[in-house]
Parts: sequence; C-alpha cells; structure tokens
Amino acid sequence: MGEAAALSRAEALRLRPPEWKHACHALLYAPCPGRLFGKIPLRFAVLMQMRFDGRLGFHGGFVDPRDTSLEEGLNRELLEELGPGVASLLVTENDCLSCHASERPQRVVEHFYVKQLRLEELQAIEDRATQAKDHGLEVMGLVRVPLYTLRDGTGGLPAFLSNTFIGNAREQLIYVLDTLQLVPKDQLQKAVAVAQKRL
Ligand code: IMP
Repeated sequence: MGEAAALSRAEALRLRPPEWKHACHALLYAPCPGRLFGKIPLRFAVLMQMRFDGRLGFHGGFVDPRDTSLEEGLNRELLEELGPGVASLLVTENDCLSCHASERPQRVVEHFYVKQLRLEELQAIEDRATQAKDHGLEVMGLVRVPLYTLRDGTGGLPAFLSNTFIGNAREQLIYVLDTLQLVPKDQLQKAVAVAQKRL
C-alpha cells in the first residue's frame, strides 16, 4: 500500500466515489484477565482475521457511501464476516478512530473503528463465527493477537507482527495498542523493533 495521509472525517467524505473507494474496518477487543500457562498476563483479547489471501486484517470491507452510511455498510460487513454473534453489535460514528487516504495501488479512503466489548460478548462472537456467511471463503478464521512477549524475545507479539498484513492493518494495530495502552509502551516498542528486523 502506498503512503497513507491522515484525514478528518469531513475531508474523507469529500473524496467521492467512483474516483475514490471507501473501506471501513473495525478492531473489536475486550479486557481479558487470564494468564497464559498460569503466569503471563493476557491483558486484552484483540480480534483479527486470517483473510482469504493469507494476510491478516481487521473485519470489514468496501462500503459505497452513495448507497448507505459508512457505519451501516460496516455493520453489514461485520455480520457477513463474523456471523450471528454480532447481530446486536452496533458500531457507530463515535467509534471511528481514524481516516486515511492512499492513492496506490488504488484510490482508497480507509475508515478505522475501534470498539470495546465485555469478554463474554467477544467470546460469544468467537463461538458463532463459523456460522458467518464468509467463513471458509473470505474469512479463513478469527485470531486473537498475542499481546505479550515470551522469554526468547520473539514469541508472542513480535512474531505476530512479523506476519503479512493487508493494507495498513499492521500500522492500525500498533497505533491502537499504543494509544489505548493495551500493551506497555516499552514492550510495544521492543516488539515492533524485533518484528522489523524479521521482515
Ligand atoms: P478487501 O477486503 O480485500 O476487499 O479490501 C478492501 C480494501 O480495504 C483494500 O484497499 C484493502 O487494502 C483494504 N483493507 C482490507 N483489510 C484492511 C484492514 O484490516 N485494514 C486496513 N485496510 C484494509
């Protein structure tokens, strides 16, 4: 993906179809008190998906703002990709964290949303995700992001960040982990640096 420029929502909406396509994606997360092997704090459950193209990304897709509101389109995409567990979930304009525009490989405005759930709600989504229309097609499966770093310095978040991501999904993930303080700053910086060396 080419250089992406940050925009306000008003600026983003001035970039109109058909010259510009609009995509909306959402990060869903919940506080998660568990410990891996009884020791390592999990902190939060953050959901991503393995896509049909073998890349990691967030749930969502293209929305045509001429047909529908961005959020209506996003909620429909979430239902198709995550299934009946999100039927009562409503992502709104207030959940929008950022808008970015990039011209390459095509002109796309990316609207990114973040929504905090309770762990029980997130687990209910996971439990029913295989009933989604897109399961096994556009969506190969849900994943939780490991937010810890194992003693070898690579396992966990650094190894996860070394995967291939779609568009600017890796940058979106790092930005959220940082701004919402889902991972302590020093640990996040180290994980990003280790991942960078592995790429
Ligand atoms: P599609 O999901 O492959 O149809 O992608 C639609 C557009 O959204 C493309 O421009 C992708 O690069 C972009 N895209 C897909 N998933 C994500 C994501 O998780 N974050 C940011 N952009 C994404």
